[in-house]
Amino acid sequence: MSRPSFCASLCAALLSVLLVGAGAQPASPVTAQSIGDSIYPRLGQAGLDVRHYALDLNVDRPGTSELSGVVTLTVGATRPLPLLSLDFLGPAVAAVTWNGQPAPYRQDRAAGKLSIQRSLRPGEQATVTVRFAGTVGRRPDPELPLDVGWQAVAADGKRPGANFTLSEPDGTRTFLPVNDHPSDPATFTTRVTVPAGYVAAASGVQVLAQAAPGGGQTFTFEQAQPIPTYALALHVNRFERQDSPAVPVGVGGAAVARRDYFPSDLPDGTRDAYTRTGEVLTVLSGWFGPFPFGAYGSAVVTPGIPALETATLSTMPVRASNVRVLVHETAHQWFGDRVVLGDWADVWLNEGFATYAELLWAQAQGEDGAAIVRGWYDRAGRSPTRPLVAASERQLFDTTSYIRGALALQAVRVTVGDAAFQAYLRGWVAAFSDRPARTADLLAHTRRQLGADAEAALRLWTESPTLPPLPE
Ligand code: ARG
Ligand code: ZN
Repeated sequence: MSRPSFCASLCAALLSVLLVGAGAQPASPVTAQSIGDSIYPRLGQAGLDVRHYALDLNVDRPGTSELSGVVTLTVGATRPLPLLSLDFLGPAVAAVTWNGQPAPYRQDRAAGKLSIQRSLRPGEQATVTVRFAGTVGRRPDPELPLDVGWQAVAADGKRPGANFTLSEPDGTRTFLPVNDHPSDPATFTTRVTVPAGYVAAASGVQVLAQAAPGGGQTFTFEQAQPIPTYALALHVNRFERQDSPAVPVGVGGAAVARRDYFPSDLPDGTRDAYTRTGEVLTVLSGWFGPFPFGAYGSAVVTPGIPALETATLSTMPVRASNVRVLVHETAHQWFGDRVVLGDWADVWLNEGFATYAELLWAQAQGEDGAAIVRGWYDRAGRSPTRPLVAASERQLFDTTSYIRGALALQAVRVTVGDAAFQAYLRGWVAAFSDRPARTADLLAHTRRQLGADAEAALRLWTESPTLPPLPE
């Protein structure tokens, strides 16, 4: 998927005029227009539509930052592209091909871009391969004591080395050449070869596990619905995979396969929350509509990191292995992974909805919803507040995104009642499963489906500089 932008198409047109004027050999290197995200203005390429990523990766030394492989991208364009510009901070590129022929490229690790000197017009499709090997790149998180992207967990006396992805918002580019913006989700085929004794897990349905030369194994996963790049799960560990009965909550009542992955030597009780996953899927699909993917489960990781809603396989740290967090990450499968963001400034559309799901679950367990909402309101009152559209990177995952975002949905619900609210949530997922969503889209959807009063209630919560009154 890709978003049109008037300015970018104008710039591309001007650029092609300049190129013709210069006799098709530009004196200075041709540059690409980024997507123009309001928080991360350099990410992505405007007009690039990556349809599919086929990954063929080798993790020869789990627990280290070494990675090698070939990524095959199927790309299209929504406007003329003078070159292909991918986000990539990762290992050294060894070769690039374009429709099977070697193609010139430039890897600029400081700028985080891999440019390939081939043009693409709307209506054309190309197959691009990028072969790389070496050490993954680094992208420090502004708040967490970690780099987002490819995580390396060194072996210790108790556990073997392991790797996994923790990429929100833009860590995927530390290890894969991608159009690293949620407005361009794509399907993935992920093949990972690991040493003997190791298991690989990734987003999608496992379609193959084959012996690899040297005693290892190659695991293949098919992620058939488009997902944002940051939502790609990829794990290498000495996991135990635990399968559970499928849950009939997919599209048209289709079975959603259930599998969870657990490292060995987990503290007692760590697995308990995951026995509730089927119930969580059932309760949430009652509110949000069919589960959007063919499988669901969790992969437990040992470092004390935040949980992440990686598609079809939530990444769950040991210390967040509780049902509330599981509900939150499961809700993100609809809100974030299926309905994708048009801009990072709108991340409350992910976090507010996922937090709201915690209330829906608690009420389904017979808990007092009003007390939970009051608790949220008190918490929001103790934190600085702001309109819901974020203005800076540090606001993306703050109390406003999560708690004020959830309260905004409560304001809509109390305006229209439960039945209309349920239809509204389902309508939002149905309408925005194939195009990126922004806050203005939710306001328009609210007016269309619920009318002017509901839109006004939501608008107060999205736009007021102060905290609106408790919705009752
Ligand atoms: N989306 C994650 C959640 O489930 C939080 C990720 C926080 N990431 C970060 N880079 N601060 O709420
Ligand atoms: Zn969240």
